[in-house]
Amino acid sequence: MARFAAILLALASLATAAPSLSARQAITSLTSAQISAFKPYSFYAAAGYCSPASTLAWNCGTNCAGANPAFHPVASGGDGDATQFWFVGVDQTLGTVIVSHQGTDPSEILSLVTDSNFFLESLDPTLFPWRELFSRSAQRVCKRAGQQILAAVQTALSQFDVKKVTMVGHSLGGAIALIDSVYLPLHITGVTFQTIVYGLPRVGNQAFANLASVGNTVTHINNKEDIVPILPGMFLGFHHPTGEVHIEDSGAWDSCPGQDNESDLCSTGDVPNILEGNESDHDGPYDGVEMGC
Ligand SMILES: *[C@@H]1O[C@H](CO)[C@@H](O)[C@H](O)[C@H]1NC(C)=O
Ligand SMILES: *[C@@H]1O[C@H](CO)[C@@H](O)[C@H](O)[C@H]1NC(C)=O
Repeated sequence: MARFAAILLALASLATAAPSLSARQAITSLTSAQISAFKPYSFYAAAGYCSPASTLAWNCGTNCAGANPAFHPVASGGDGDATQFWFVGVDQTLGTVIVSHQGTDPSEILSLVTDSNFFLESLDPTLFPWRELFSRSAQRVCKRAGQQILAAVQTALSQFDVKKVTMVGHSLGGAIALIDSVYLPLHITGVTFQTIVYGLPRVGNQAFANLASVGNTVTHINNKEDIVPILPGMFLGFHHPTGEVHIEDSGAWDSCPGQDNESDLCSTGDVPNILEGNESDHDGPYDGVEMGC
């Protein structure tokens, strides 16, 4: 049933305009140095799948001390069931607090994004002062863990001399990180924020996507023909913020201007419906990094 709904959703997004030549020319490829700069964050996103005990001890193996040996964990939590795992700590080499959220495997995220629980609902006015809409399931995780994560970020900023907060996550973890990216700046001032997420589904309506685009602090990296980034369909009212980077079949990383760019060099154009997508691209590799603990 969920699969059938997904096909219907995706078929409705079939009618896309062909990209013009000038559109293609304005899409730029990242340099190899720019691609490499994402790698530590990709490992932080992968470590989001590891148990809270192992991220707090920073002994989860390759994705923890192997990739980012200088990390100082501050707090971790979640049960991997109702609340995705999360951890907060500081990377002084990168000069930032890291907030990482666990995601889900491809089959789970596909049933989530085609489930009515993902559909738009009003933001909780006690947490968010706007009228934007976004996915109910991601909002529920934020309500359960948001205050603990906020407290952990404040602790990290008070203990270490860093002035930046970076939110990372893959899949559902990316959706939660995107909500963090509008939630945490409401409560923390005097620092800069950036959000780096992988295999991000569409999380909210146009107003939410615009809000998350302010300042261009979000980068969402989509791998090849991953189908999660094209769900839920735009015809249901969902949109992406700016900041897409699309990994091509060639391995090039292309920066896509605007929101939901319909060029075939970007996810929305390259994967016009889920029949042309490939679920196994969801977990990566993202420059060699596979998501998962
Ligand atoms: C997609 O990128 C092209 C090239 O920069 C740009 O002209 C076009 O407006 C973008 N499309 C959207 C929907 O933002
Ligand atoms: C889907 O992606 C996987 C991993 O990249 C690849 O091995 C497989 O051939 C792809 N399937 C199709 C139908 O393209």
